[in-house]
Amino acid sequence: MAAASYIYRTLTKDQIDDKILAECASLFSKNYGIWAPDAPKPLKPGKRVMMNAGKLRQQCISDAEHTVLAVCTLDGVLIGHAFAVVWQTDGGSLICWVTQLVVEQSHRQKGVATALIQTLPGENFGEVDLFGIASSHPAACLSLLKRTKALDLDFIRNQGPTVLASATVDYLKTGQLRGSLFDPKDASGAVSTIFTNFYVDHAEPLSVLGDVISKHGKWPLGSLLDGHEFLVIARAS
Ligand SMILES: CC(C)(COP(=O)(O)OP(=O)(O)OC[C@H]1O[C@@H](n2cnc3c(N)ncnc32)[C@H](O)[C@@H]1OP(=O)(O)O)[C@@H](O)C(=O)NCCC(=O)NCCS
Repeated sequence: MAAASYIYRTLTKDQIDDKILAECASLFSKNYGIWAPDAPKPLKPGKRVMMNAGKLRQQCISDAEHTVLAVCTLDGVLIGHAFAVVWQTDGGSLICWVTQLVVEQSHRQKGVATALIQTLPGENFGEVDLFGIASSHPAACLSLLKRTKALDLDFIRNQGPTVLASATVDYLKTGQLRGSLFDPKDASGAVSTIFTNFYVDHAEPLSVLGDVISKHGKWPLGSLLDGHEFLVIARAS
């Protein structure tokens, strides 16, 4: 019998039903991460970041017409997903923003996140000009950069305020650009980050960051402070 292989699909508004949302919520709750030791109440430090289908719909599908969900299944079981939203920035560019990306732990480092992002934004939306992500996980940033032209910090500096000003995603509307890219007096070590008030534990992402720096010799986005996420905005390749 042939070995099963990963199957990738993109789903839009009418295809994102309660069943797939429940599967995504379950995958997220088991695999996303844990709350940071300094996570404010009522969050529970050390406990898993949990999600249910209703919360997922509220957080990731607030603009259903412009939302796409990329899924990866193996033998019919969901093992990875990426939610993304498409909108037009004030500068007139069409941007595809990855709002949530998670891969089941035993299927990581096999290119699943990279392949999910390659399918975005899917046929319904056609070509976009830009891609963006805010994530504490270096691998999420690296997987996005496979779908874009090379990282250009000046481009992020110029586009960051425009993209945030036009964002349709709640955590971006209230997010604050932080790091030396946006404030030359910022001496925190952060370069391109955004304060989203999201206190997920950084132990795993920082351990991956150590590996990435060993492999690539550098990490251009700088340090990751509590409650912050790395920020990547880049031209589609
Ligand atoms: C972030 C995440 C989605 C990456 O998924 P993945 O399928 O393992 O990613 P990929 O295999 O496509 O790898 C992408 C890049 O990151 C690198 N990478 C991934 N995991 C790594 C690790 N543990 N150590 C070093 N590099 C790693 C890969 O080598 C690849 O880079 P390369 O092509 O230059 O070699 C996954 O780790 C995850 O679900 N994490 C928890 C949730 C999270 O933090 N999501 C992001 C928030 S939006």
